[in-house]
Amino acid sequence: MTRGPREATGVDLRDQERLRAAGEIPRHIAVIMDGNGRWAKERGLPRIAGHREGVESVRDIVEACGQLGVRYLTLYAFSTENWKRPQDEVSLLMRLLLTALRDETDRLHNNNVRLRMIGDIDALPSEVQSELREAATRTAKNTGLTLTLALSYSGRWEITQAIRAIAHDVQAGRLKPEEITEESISRYLTTEDIPDPDLLVRTSGELRLSNFLLWQVAYTELYITPGYWPAFRRNALYAAIDEYQRRERRFGMVSEQVKPNSNEQPPRKRILKSVAGP
Ligand code: FPP
Repeated sequence: MTRGPREATGVDLRDQERLRAAGEIPRHIAVIMDGNGRWAKERGLPRIAGHREGVESVRDIVEACGQLGVRYLTLYAFSTENWKRPQDEVSLLMRLLLTALRDETDRLHNNNVRLRMIGDIDALPSEVQSELREAATRTAKNTGLTLTLALSYSGRWEITQAIRAIAHDVQAGRLKPEEITEESISRYLTTEDIPDPDLLVRTSGELRLSNFLLWQVAYTELYITPGYWPAFRRNALYAAIDEYQRRERRFGMVSEQVKPNSNEQPPRKRILKSVAGP
């Protein structure tokens, strides 16, 4: 994330405008950024080169989401399971995260982005923790895109924490067992103040959730693309949103309930022909 700010080009602004006109922009997009290692390997580069290029994708996607009016972007940057990687790679990833935070916080702040993090943040190196906390405090009052970094995060870890906290509150008499509802459980999760994702993007083609936001993705639309994360730039994001806009979200209901006049509506024009997906 070391390049200077890139203005959206005229063509890009037109693509964004078309997407907004074609349908609803997802309020919350969550991303499993996968394939950094394979991207590097295919080029005969060390894995860290893939992670570095992955940071460029983060930068571009954050910027494009902000411009499009996406309200929440949640990135799976380091899972609980990622601690099991070779020590060298973990250290390099932590250093990369630290550098990216140092380089980018000003720009995030100037672009009205609110940065927050979820996960076992206390498990991260202390330098990373303090940089994250500083950046989160500095950007806390921003009103644009909320960018959530999932770090040392896993869905099962989060659900376990929530159950433990609920058990404590019941034991202390602060919560009655009959008050445990889907809504109250959601308030014990690290995502308590943000809506569930509308769209989950996974790069590099694997067909799994990898322990990401397990509770929150109950009704999320899944978009899995074969391209690797370092190659996932704004045009690929627009292709994902285009696909999302074609889907009918029924939340367990029937088509007529979610779209009562569906038969009267003209077929939605697909006008993003110029946007190439991976
Ligand atoms: C998955 O690729 C990617 C990661 C485990 C790390 C993602 C981290 C970044 C993009 C950089 C830091 C992030 C921010 C927010 C600044 P992989 O290594 O699992 O790839 P592979 O499956 O091809 O081996």
